[in-house]
Amino acid sequence: MSNLRTLGEFIIEKQHDFPHASGDLSSLLSSINLAAKIVHREINKAGLVDITGAAGEENIQGEAQQKLDVLANDTFKAALENRDQVCGIASEEEDDFVSFDSELNKQAKYVVLMDPLDGSSNIDVNVSVGTIFSIYRRLSPIGGLTEARDFLQPGTEQVASGYVIYGSSTMLVYTTGKGVHGFTYDPSIGSFCLSHEDMRIPKQGFIYSINEGNYINFPAGVKKYLKYCQEEDEAGKRPYTSRYIGSLVSDFHRNLLLGGIFLYPSTRAYPTGKLRLLYECNPIAFLTEQAGGEATDGEGRIMEIKPGELHQRVPFFAGSTDMVKTLHGFLRDNPDQY
Ligand code: AHG
Ligand code: MN
Ligand code: MN
Repeated sequence: MSNLRTLGEFIIEKQHDFPHASGDLSSLLSSINLAAKIVHREINKAGLVDITGAAGEENIQGEAQQKLDVLANDTFKAALENRDQVCGIASEEEDDFVSFDSELNKQAKYVVLMDPLDGSSNIDVNVSVGTIFSIYRRLSPIGGLTEARDFLQPGTEQVASGYVIYGSSTMLVYTTGKGVHGFTYDPSIGSFCLSHEDMRIPKQGFIYSINEGNYINFPAGVKKYLKYCQEEDEAGKRPYTSRYIGSLVSDFHRNLLLGGIFLYPSTRAYPTGKLRLLYECNPIAFLTEQAGGEATDGEGRIMEIKPGELHQRVPFFAGSTDMVKTLHGFLRDNPDQY
C-alpha cells in the first residue's frame, strides 16, 4: 500500500522527464485511461447483455465488425475528442482519418491511431482482447484540420504508444520512449495501479507464436525457422513452446513477460502480411524496442517503414532479440516466397 501509485499519478511524475512538457500528453493519456475503464466494464458484461456477435457491417478492409469493435471505437473516439488534446484520429474501424473540427481540437498538437478492439473475433468465446494506440505530433499547422501526412509518419516519430489488455485482469502498458510500464486495473478502486515498472523482454525466450495452420503458405525461411524451433538441441533449450491465442495484444503481452517471438509473415492469403502497420505493428514495435527487443518486417525495422496508406499491412516479427536475429538468418538463407 505504501508504494501504491496510480496511472494518473505516475504520468504526472514522469512528466518531469520532459523539461518543456505542457501537460497535454498527460491529459491525452488520461483520456485513454478513462476509455479503457469504460471498455473494460462493457467487455466484462459482454455475455450478459446483447453486445457480442457481429454488428452487421464490414470495415473498409472487408472484415465483419463486431458490436464491441464499434462500441470500443466510439468510446475511445469520444474520450479523445472530449479532452481537446487531440486534433484527429485514425482507426481500424474508420475508412479514413477523422479530423475533430471544434476550435479547441484544431488547436491540439497530437493525433492518435488505434486498433480499438484487437482480437475481436475472440470476444464471443471469452478470450482476451485488447486496444492498441499510437500517438504522434501533427505535421499540419496548428489551428487547421488534420491532413493525411499527420497520420502517415514512420513509427520512429511516435511520441507514445501502448495497449490495454482485457484479460484475466485488465492491464494498461505504455511507453513514451523512456521504458515500458504496466498498470493493473483494480476495479474496487476504479484505478490502474503500477504493477510492472520498466518491463524488459528477455534477450532469448522459449516461446514462438504463429498461426501454424497457415504453414503451407509461409515463406521458405519461416518454415525452416519453425522446424528449428521444434528441433532438439544439445543444450536442451529446444524444442521451444508454441503458444498462439490469435489476439496480437495477448500474444505479445505474454511474450513480453516471458520472452518469445511473435510472427505474422506474408502468406498466400495476405501477400503483404495481415497486421496493419500504423495501429498494430508500429505501436507494438515501439514497446518491443523500449523493452529491449526487436521488431522487423523480416528485412528492416518496422518503425523505419515510410507508410503509404492508412490501412497498410506488413509482415511482422517481434520479440526477444536473439530469436529475431536467428529468424533473420533463416530468412536470408531461404529467400523463396512459398
Ligand atoms: P483485429 O481483431 O483487430 O482485426 O486483429 C486480429 C489480428 C490480431 O489480433 C491477431 O494477431 C491476428 O489477427 C490473428 O490472425 P489469424 O486469425 O490469421 O491467426
Ligand atoms: Mn487487431
Ligand atoms: Mn481490431
